[in-house]
Amino acid sequence: MNLPQHIYKLIIFSFLFCFYQASFANSLNASRVTQELVNPPYLPEHSQVALGPPKIVQIDMIIQEKEIEIEPGVFIQALTFNGTVPGPLIVVHQDDYVELSLTNPSSNSMMHNIDFHAATGAMGGGELTMVAPGEKVVLRFKATKAGVFVYHCAPGGPMVPWHVVHGMNGAIMVLPRDGLKDNNGRPIEYSKAYFIGEQDYYIPKDENGKFKRFKTPIESYVDDLKAMKTLQPSHVVFNGKVGALTGAKALKADVGDTVLLIHAQANRQSYPHLIGGHGDFVWERGNFSDPPKTNLESWVIGAGSAGASIYTFKQPGFYAYLSHNLIEAFLLGAAAHIVVDGAWDSDLMTQVSEPSAID
Ligand code: CU
Repeated sequence: MNLPQHIYKLIIFSFLFCFYQASFANSLNASRVTQELVNPPYLPEHSQVALGPPKIVQIDMIIQEKEIEIEPGVFIQALTFNGTVPGPLIVVHQDDYVELSLTNPSSNSMMHNIDFHAATGAMGGGELTMVAPGEKVVLRFKATKAGVFVYHCAPGGPMVPWHVVHGMNGAIMVLPRDGLKDNNGRPIEYSKAYFIGEQDYYIPKDENGKFKRFKTPIESYVDDLKAMKTLQPSHVVFNGKVGALTGAKALKADVGDTVLLIHAQANRQSYPHLIGGHGDFVWERGNFSDPPKTNLESWVIGAGSAGASIYTFKQPGFYAYLSHNLIEAFLLGAAAHIVVDGAWDSDLMTQVSEPSAID
């Protein structure tokens, strides 16, 4: 054996190995960006087509236990990611790394974690993120699947549904690197996007049928489990409370706007329908790698799932986006309004004669 040549090869190999490791570490370090999360229904600043190679997207979330009034006079000791129900929408591109810093302040009373349906392994990250009050953890995962996905707290046993129905859920959108595509593979660009997180609540009632109010989250636990086991929510709401997206808080668009609506439900099914419009393109199960369904009247969001729909508004006026289980929409709260500005198209619809007495 020629020893000097052997050593020479070893040095070359070692050098290449170190270079490979260093370049991998550099690519992680070199492309680090921070995403400022915003409150739903809004999305953080993002580009629809990825700019450059995969990045590490750093995000900070603070767990907040806080009381929320979900309709006048009805309260819940909510468990939240960042103080809102749902938690904020995260937006990255496929093959980006999500690096989440999750803080559980010492003012909180319980353990929490986060299970990302977009992540692979360790219970979606739930096993690696369990934090007690006063602790903080950092998780990094690679977003290998394009689509919209739920995330939620999953601290184990009955605590899992209990935390979820106290508001501790949200969604992440993992865009394909080259953006969304229609059913023929042509690019789709949206001009507006909104995030709707649907929440089912199970507020216990007292012996007089009045909703109970509690001083701390754990105080309601036994009553909550009884109410939850009926599988009959007291409220089904969009974005945390009845009327969060209606009236003065209605979503806005213009005729010609192509609007992306992301709809998440961490615990049960929903049946979105846009009254007066359609789902031009719908990723019912949220998978952006599959061609979207087209021209739907209503669609189904699976339990523990997010879906996305796109509609280009053609008429001005008032629209309602709701769950077409109409009992949930009109009696339990699952409705949003969209007010659209623009010029009326009489070809699409006209009132041929006004209401008048029957001859
Ligand atoms: Cu939790």
